[in-house]
Amino acid sequence: METSPTQTWSQRFETALHPAIAIFNASIGFDIELIEYDLTGSQAHAKMLAKSGIISPEEGEQLVNGLEQIRQEYRQGQFQPGIEDEDVHFAVERRLTQLVGDVGKKLHTARSRNDQVGTDTRLYLRAQIEAIQQQLKAFQRALLTLAEAHVETLIPGYTHLQRAQPLSLAHHLLAYVEMSQRDWERLSDVSRRVNISPLGCGALAGTTFPIDRHYSADLLGFERVYSNSLDGVSDRDFAIEFACAASLIMVHLSRLSEEIILWASEEFGFVTLNDSCSTGSSIMPQKKNPDVPELVRGKAGRVFGHLQALLVIMKGLPLAYNKDLQEDKEALFDSVKTVKGCLEAMTILLQEGINFRPNRLIQAVNEDFSNATDVADYLAAKGVPFREAYNLVGKVVKTSLAAGKLLRELTLEEWQEIHPAFEEDIYEAIAPRQVVAARNSFGGTGFEQVQRALQVARNLLDEQ
Ligand code: ARG
Repeated sequence: METSPTQTWSQRFETALHPAIAIFNASIGFDIELIEYDLTGSQAHAKMLAKSGIISPEEGEQLVNGLEQIRQEYRQGQFQPGIEDEDVHFAVERRLTQLVGDVGKKLHTARSRNDQVGTDTRLYLRAQIEAIQQQLKAFQRALLTLAEAHVETLIPGYTHLQRAQPLSLAHHLLAYVEMSQRDWERLSDVSRRVNISPLGCGALAGTTFPIDRHYSADLLGFERVYSNSLDGVSDRDFAIEFACAASLIMVHLSRLSEEIILWASEEFGFVTLNDSCSTGSSIMPQKKNPDVPELVRGKAGRVFGHLQALLVIMKGLPLAYNKDLQEDKEALFDSVKTVKGCLEAMTILLQEGINFRPNRLIQAVNEDFSNATDVADYLAAKGVPFREAYNLVGKVVKTSLAAGKLLRELTLEEWQEIHPAFEEDIYEAIAPRQVVAARNSFGGTGFEQVQRALQVARNLLDEQ
């Protein structure tokens, strides 16, 4: 085979890559996603080379302008690298040299693709984290708006998926605001470790040129630079941390999805889904399917898979760069894309896709024994030791169930036979609204607590 005219390698190589190996080796099919960051990173590198006197100021300017021109070409769809470019870094360098001539060949002075790809990936992830954080805020706003409309709406609360105690629906929704707040904060924390510059670490050992790593890092808005060149080029902790934060976002979205799917079933009947956010069946005309939450629940699996992939890719790598690291990209890109897509869809679902059914909810909380704890609390408040009261109420539930009666249907005489401490106010104490209102301990579902929590959440969202 002849040496390919496009062969990027040094003269050490005599033949071109086998075509199948070229395809196997190439990352251009996916790392084109990094192009804007590659251009920005390269512009900072060129400026640093000029400032440090490694190239002339004119050369620096030519490189920066040429890179800017590639950016325009790319945005206009005119820059379309192919397999022969191998990856986005080579593709840019080749085009740059076509555009500005031999000076383009100076761009790679004092740099390696190893520190370059690390720089690009960090710039990419930093921007994506910011975008995801914005989306988390929008998701929280949608939850909060729904919660504000449903402070007084009661919904059964469950443990073990068995009716437990009734809740303010707002309280239930606010639980997800809390989870996504932790997601937001976790991303901020991950961001601190994403925002470190490996540029100038070279292939692994640094460089012989008098570079200024702090200058290029400043230009790129990095908070600091890696202190050890080996660590700088081979660290992917930040990617794993991101995948972990992304996985937790998906855990939360998936739990909410599961609840919505249950709520939309005939058995629960707590919500209906609007046509704009649900789909039909190709054969069963009566069906309306909760595809959005189902997809979100399913996509959680993809994101967890990417976390696992990244961990396994890293675990056996000797220092420093190994080509295995090229495998981090698809995992990261797909995690980002999946989380963004799911957040968007769930936000729309909350904004316009879901209707709570007040009648079904009232019926649900009125017709169960989820006020049994309140009977026990009632007696305990009158001095009966709680465990004794608990046992007593257990018996009442048993006999009522056998008699097909609800607690509120017992007569005062029946109550007083159970225990003389019962008075007329037992009926008020076990009414669902009161049962909810009474749980006024900090962080509880009592309406006062919920109002306070809504205020706190609203303030937080307005601040950020
Ligand atoms: N495409 C490569 C990657 O994504 C760029 C770095 C290549 N470095 C190397 N020494 N072969 O990891």
